[in-house]
Amino acid sequence: MTSLTDRTAFVTGAAQGLGAAIARALYSEGCRVALTDISPAVHDTARALDPGGTKVRALQLDVRDRDAFASCFADAVATFGGVDIMVNNAARTVARSLWDITPAEWDDVLAVNLRGVFFGCQIAGRHMRDRRRGRIINLSSIAGQQGSLVNGAHYSASKAGILVLTKIFAQELAPYGVTVNTLAPAAIRTPALAASPPDKIEEIRRTMPVGRLGEPEDVAAAAVYLASDAAGFVTGATLDLNGGRFMR
Ligand SMILES: NC(=O)c1ccc[n+]([C@@H]2O[C@H](COP(=O)([O-])OP(=O)(O)OC[C@H]3O[C@@H](n4cnc5c(N)ncnc54)[C@H](O)[C@@H]3O)[C@@H](O)[C@H]2O)c1
Repeated sequence: MTSLTDRTAFVTGAAQGLGAAIARALYSEGCRVALTDISPAVHDTARALDPGGTKVRALQLDVRDRDAFASCFADAVATFGGVDIMVNNAARTVARSLWDITPAEWDDVLAVNLRGVFFGCQIAGRHMRDRRRGRIINLSSIAGQQGSLVNGAHYSASKAGILVLTKIFAQELAPYGVTVNTLAPAAIRTPALAASPPDKIEEIRRTMPVGRLGEPEDVAAAAVYLASDAAGFVTGATLDLNGGRFMR
């Protein structure tokens, strides 16, 4: 796999969990990384990654706000001279019964999880199209493939939307050397999963054909592959990271 030295990545929702693990893995491969998150904790995550601070930049960003998204992205471009890899990872996971989802909660989950990914693809896609190179990686979920009541119908619908949005941007950007792909994880050990009751987590583990939960590094390794030159022929694809739980 070609080294990612001197590439620049922009990761949303990078304060913790998969976003932080993906940022860490890309950094280890030689990338400069803009870590962004709605939470100020993103500054601590970035400091832990690169105490010197020359190859990372931490920015507070709410992906629901398109203007803020555009200026944050422009900041990363100005700081590092361009963005080669966009990781649309930020999401709200809200375990809610189908019958209890309110209009406000529906709108907010879709605004973060789907509209935010659309903004990320639009802003990064335009930049990458002009440079005629780039990688966009969107985080979907097994919930977007199978439907999950556990994580909420709004969450599942948003993750299903990401699958088709990825194909649309992939078709549009393919002639410009820009690939757009989706990762579809299941049951990865992050703070989002840890919020479930321990007996529920154990029940999930028992249903995993590979006999274990996923680790953030399992997903990060796939992101590194999709970001690499070796994945130049892969676009519009969904890479399943679910321990065999869903095979298609
Ligand atoms: N952990 C899993 O098992 C799993 C499974 C399938 C898919 N995923 C997907 O992977 C991604 C990361 O999941 P995770 O488990 O690390 O989740 P997490 O909840 O641990 O982290 C999500 C991050 O997104 C940030 N965020 C939330 N709202 C935001 C907003 N409006 N703007 C910017 N940042 C915001 C949070 O502050 C947090 O740092 C998500 O897209 C999730 O749907 C995770």
